[in-house]
Amino acid sequence: MSTAASTTVATGLAISHAHLTLGDGENTVKPLDDVSLSVSAGELVAVVGPSGAGKSSLLAVAGALTTPDAGTVTVNGTDLNALGRSAAARFRLENIGFVFQSGNLIPSLKAAEQLVLMHRMAGGDGGFDPLPLLAAVGMDHKAGSRPDQLSGGERQRVGIARALVNRPKLLLVDEPTAALDRRRSQEVVELLARETHEMGVATVMVTHDHDVLHHCDRVVEMVDGRLTS
Ligand SMILES: Nc1ncnc2c1ncn2[C@@H]1O[C@H](COP(=O)(O)OP(=O)(O)O)[C@@H](O)[C@H]1O
Ligand SMILES: [Mg+2]
Repeated sequence: MSTAASTTVATGLAISHAHLTLGDGENTVKPLDDVSLSVSAGELVAVVGPSGAGKSSLLAVAGALTTPDAGTVTVNGTDLNALGRSAAARFRLENIGFVFQSGNLIPSLKAAEQLVLMHRMAGGDGGFDPLPLLAAVGMDHKAGSRPDQLSGGERQRVGIARALVNRPKLLLVDEPTAALDRRRSQEVVELLARETHEMGVATVMVTHDHDVLHHCDRVVEMVDGRLTS
């Protein structure tokens, strides 16, 4: 229908009618029950909802960590379900950034080294300079510090910088402020919003923290595996 030159590349995340069942026998749960969600490039969408609602499962499916029973997930036009395991792993490294509750840094590495390793893992060469990205999250002055020498908020900021190293199209963030006080929480989510907008990445952030929602472009609620706006 369209030529390569005129094709509009679908940017961001599109989840369509995803179903996910976990467990077996009488312990079966359905963390995703016909979930559809689109997130545009440059948009920060918050997902709120009670514990057990399926929020982390949604991120797992969006990040090709879990394959849904039914439905489609595309990231920048690539159908994740159509990728084999190793292709999915490579696609994840090159296109998807993850940020978890505690920053999930490697204890023995300095802040700068956390970023360099992520660059190498995606096949990058030796010329990568981590300092501009550390500066973008206000952490260039701590480039030589290991995680145990950083505060919770600082670790979280390094974690965000690391997730952005490979210029992901999709950023998946699970409860980034759970271990932070109110002021640090504001700073971290403000930073996420800024990087989302400046880098044009589609970001999905799961949070319990209603005080940070004003930084988000859109809020969706998840209850019993279903999304409501
Ligand atoms: N591997 C698993 N096996 C069985 N049940 C699971 C598994 N992972 C999550 N669940 C269940 O799926 C539901 C949704 O979990 P989750 O997506 O982690 O929710 P949330 O992040 O909103 O708290 C919960 O009932 C949880 O206990
Ligand atoms: Mg969760």
